[in-house]
Amino acid sequence: MTTSVSTAIHNFNAGPSILPKEVFEEASHSVLDFNNTGLSILEIGHRTPLFESVMNGAIALVKELMLLDADHEVLFLHGGATTQFMQVPMNLLNDNEVASYTQTGTWALKAIKEAKLFGHVEIVGSSIETNYTTIPENISVTPTAAYLHITTNETIAGTQWHQLPYDCGVPLVADMSSDILSRELDFNRFDLIYAGAQKNMGAAGVNLVVVNKNVLGKVKRTIPSILDYRNHIKEHSMMNTPPVFAVYVAMLTLRWLKSKGGVAGIEKVNNAKAKLFYDTLDSLPVFKGPVAKKDRSKMNAVFIMNDPSLEKEFSDLCKSEGMIGIKGHRSVGGFRVSMYNALPLESVRVLTDLMKDFANRKG
Ligand SMILES: Cc1ncc(COP(=O)(O)O)c(C=O)c1O
Repeated sequence: MTTSVSTAIHNFNAGPSILPKEVFEEASHSVLDFNNTGLSILEIGHRTPLFESVMNGAIALVKELMLLDADHEVLFLHGGATTQFMQVPMNLLNDNEVASYTQTGTWALKAIKEAKLFGHVEIVGSSIETNYTTIPENISVTPTAAYLHITTNETIAGTQWHQLPYDCGVPLVADMSSDILSRELDFNRFDLIYAGAQKNMGAAGVNLVVVNKNVLGKVKRTIPSILDYRNHIKEHSMMNTPPVFAVYVAMLTLRWLKSKGGVAGIEKVNNAKAKLFYDTLDSLPVFKGPVAKKDRSKMNAVFIMNDPSLEKEFSDLCKSEGMIGIKGHRSVGGFRVSMYNALPLESVRVLTDLMKDFANRKG
């Protein structure tokens, strides 16, 4: 038998990522016995009252946490955010119309590519010139555009929209995959929001869509039934078998969020984590943050080392101290620290102490 020395793990993964411990505990218990039924959550029918209360509970929690009005419908769908890259234009963009997109990095580019399959795309703001280290300013949208699409948080580049283009004059659509429910926004000003659950909202396998029902039903094409948002609204996200376990984990995560003071409560913690991280980064010349300060993401902080030959040593040190997932995305290199809702402030403290120690030794 081997004995192992346990080191606390600090999970900075970009997604799937850390979830609250309480959620893991309750979800694992429910795999064996869901709500004292003697049945596993994995073996109950999705059309039973047992699961209906999970789905309805998750939908109600989203409405409550996002303060949604009666026009906004909440859906839990399959296919990840990537499916939304095509489902959005399929439902909102006619072949002869233009949709406005902002180009802020890898994820926006994927959304743009799919939209072009359904209509015309105009790029109304791009940060390609700064290698995606900024968020475009002063965007001007054609008033007849079907909608404006933004990626509120660029998970790979580490940028985030802090001034939202609420007044763009056309329906506003947002990919919020990596900052959903992390900060207070006027969610009713968006006409469509989508997000894969696997960062701030739960396990991989389910997608949250919030849609203003007034923007639907305007395209002329025939939409396949399973891709038509109106059908999912009618069927309460139960048009076919939903990803039962993923919806359940989302419901538990939403309940946890409510217990932490909701979006306003978690935003305070997220602000404290981001401040601690960036203040430390800016105080240590050995490290460098490539993103413009005003556009820095509070969810995914990217950084590099002024002397790239030190990267491996810092990376090995982090690994040996239990830091998981701090390697930058394979397309950009360097480091990335994801500080989603469930990441405790303590993990950021441990990481920043390690950065200070390392910098002192090298300085
Ligand atoms: C901003 C953003 N959009 C879309 C996606 C794709 O999500 P999915 O893998 O759920 O399709 C990701 C994944 O990380 C993301 O970060």
